[in-house]
Amino acid sequence: MILPMGILFQAIRYVNLLRALKRGLADMVSRASFSEISLTDLALLTVPVSAQPRRLKIIKKEIIMACGFSIFYIIIKNSQNLQLSFRDIHGPAPVSRVRNTGGGQRNIKKEHNMTFLQLVKSRRSVRSYDARLIKREDLEICVEAARHAPSACNSQPWKFIVIDDIAKKEVIAKNAFSGIYDMNAFVREAAAFILVVSERTKLSAWMGGKLRNTNFRRIDIGIACEHLVLQAQELGIGTCILGWFNEKKLKKILFIPASKKIELVIALGYPEQSEFPERHLKDKDEVVSFNTY
Ligand SMILES: Cc1cc2nc3c(=O)[nH]c(=O)nc-3n(C[C@H](O)[C@H](O)[C@H](O)COP(=O)(O)O)c2cc1C
Repeated sequence: MILPMGILFQAIRYVNLLRALKRGLADMVSRASFSEISLTDLALLTVPVSAQPRRLKIIKKEIIMACGFSIFYIIIKNSQNLQLSFRDIHGPAPVSRVRNTGGGQRNIKKEHNMTFLQLVKSRRSVRSYDARLIKREDLEICVEAARHAPSACNSQPWKFIVIDDIAKKEVIAKNAFSGIYDMNAFVREAAAFILVVSERTKLSAWMGGKLRNTNFRRIDIGIACEHLVLQAQELGIGTCILGWFNEKKLKKILFIPASKKIELVIALGYPEQSEFPERHLKDKDEVVSFNTY
């Protein structure tokens, strides 16, 4: 009789502990600072333990844990601010370079007086390119657009490796897109590649992702890639996002550490094709709804 009671007692303790942890974590995500912890929360902390009923003691434990997580959150937040001020000190150099490019590049959107939606609709995956090379400054603009993509907790968990060296590009096209990856052999015509490697995300984004059972890092990278290809489209450069390539060979050729993940490769080049297969979009009613699922 005593043994089952003991087990039951322990189980209740663990459930309470888990609840406290859960609430603490939720607080970490939703409370920006100590100032948001209510006065009643603090008042409870001042009541002597012996004078508290059992329920109050549990609440107190939860509040202490929530405070602990809040401190943790504030530290993470401050470290983000430190990174921002570091960037502020060094100045946003690439942006000024973008401004100074003058009238060198084409701007399809301006030339055709396109709205943003028209630009989005005009982008297609390009799988046939002419022989023109892409200017380094245009590639820089594309990466600049990607760099400004939003990311969970501003983690910016990416590194973009631009390949515009002709010899290197050919080695990559030959080795990383052959054999079972042959369906992407069209990239041999591409003028450049941009590899997107995922980097460490911020702890808060990682934890948030775990709690939400999702992967913010991959979402962030997807958004950045879309920024990149839309910017390329505006400059009249065709792109194709590629998820099917020999990652091992790519890492070997470019000395990328084995521990890293190359999420995607983007092939770029001036389009040779002007006709594209009809776009099969799902029905609007299937993918969009207002005010309910
Ligand atoms: C994550 C991802 C991976 C892709 N991988 C490939 C690929 O390996 N080869 C390819 O030819 N296209 C690839 N694509 C392009 C898609 O096939 C293309 O975006 C889709 O068919 C819609 O066509 P559209 O881009 O012309 O609108 C990929 C696209 C995404 C977003």
